[in-house]
Amino acid sequence: MRSTRTRLRLTGALVALLLSAGVPAAQAVDDQPTLAELAQRHGRYFGSATDNPELTDEPYKAILGTEFDMITPGNGMKWYATEPQQGVFDFSKGDEIVNLARANHQRVRGHTLVWHSQLPGWLTSRDWTADELRAVLKKHIQTEVRHYKGKVYAWDVVNEAFNEDGTYRETIFYKTLGPGYIADALRWAHQADPKAKLYLNDYNVEGTGPKSDAYYRLVKELQAQGVPIHGFGMQAHLALQYGYPSTLEDNLRRFSRLGLDTALTEVDVRMYVPADDAELATQAQWYRDMTEACLAVRRCVGITLWDYTDRYSWIPAFFDGEGAALPWDEELRPKPAYFAIRDALQ
Ligand code: G3I
Repeated sequence: MRSTRTRLRLTGALVALLLSAGVPAAQAVDDQPTLAELAQRHGRYFGSATDNPELTDEPYKAILGTEFDMITPGNGMKWYATEPQQGVFDFSKGDEIVNLARANHQRVRGHTLVWHSQLPGWLTSRDWTADELRAVLKKHIQTEVRHYKGKVYAWDVVNEAFNEDGTYRETIFYKTLGPGYIADALRWAHQADPKAKLYLNDYNVEGTGPKSDAYYRLVKELQAQGVPIHGFGMQAHLALQYGYPSTLEDNLRRFSRLGLDTALTEVDVRMYVPADDAELATQAQWYRDMTEACLAVRRCVGITLWDYTDRYSWIPAFFDGEGAALPWDEELRPKPAYFAIRDALQ
């Protein structure tokens, strides 16, 4: 027999629909399992990114709080936000999201400790010696990881470390410290929170190829050196015009065989807008295929959408003429992609 709690559970999609029709949320009763609950039946999570400015949008928050069981701050834990001046830390943005997630019984993926983008001006506007930058990096990582100790399930410790051809990206960290900055970052994060899962994370690594091969080699090297590395995150920012990465499942599997967790960490599927029904159907198929690929590989632990609604997608601001990338539309209505994910999970 279903518990009262289960019977009264609000499916986020329905809540949004009813709220937009002027029906109070308290009257919305639905016994459809959420994406999170469906994923949990497979021992997986289903997550969404979110960002602080969006948290005043109550219908948006209703779905965020019910449909998902893993949350990633889209910007609030990045270096520019957390250490705006050298040695002066501000965790208010990340804390707001972590507190909301905890109130909703959701876990958190921390994103991201070391990345070449969205760095504070004080860090990028001067030259550093290797010793100086090493100290700055260690302090940043350990202060942030310690702050969130026990509250963050997994960290994207290093984000986007490689170029498309598998060479190291010439970031301030690589240029000043050499490739060893990755092992150091992982070791420092592990010291600060030994229970957090530590990930490397990148885009265009969903299929096999030079870039994901570079990660495969790096992970083996790190493991041989005893460096703590627990997961590989494939962002999965896909675009209809570039085709589906058909080697995704094989690629997930080869990293799993190294003993790593894998996850799809920033999923969206963009297209030129306005989208027609055929494009939305193809998009739905891709979401289905990605979900099935993750379910087929034991150590693929979960999927996170890079926000769940076109209302707050990063795509239109970065790719002229593109959008419609997420499973909920701008009015918070579920799209074919949402139903395809449900189907795949069921
Ligand atoms: O904070 C300022 C605000 O003060 C200003 O008024 C506004 C005007 O444009 O800009 C705000 O900053 C924006 C920031 O997001 C916070 O909203 C930046 O312009 C904007 O470039 C930035 O975009 C973020 C992007 O990373 C930066 O590269 C996206 O929101 C975020 O979703 C995106 O996330 C990345 C992942 O971290 C790594 N993988 C790729 C993914 C997509 O780019």
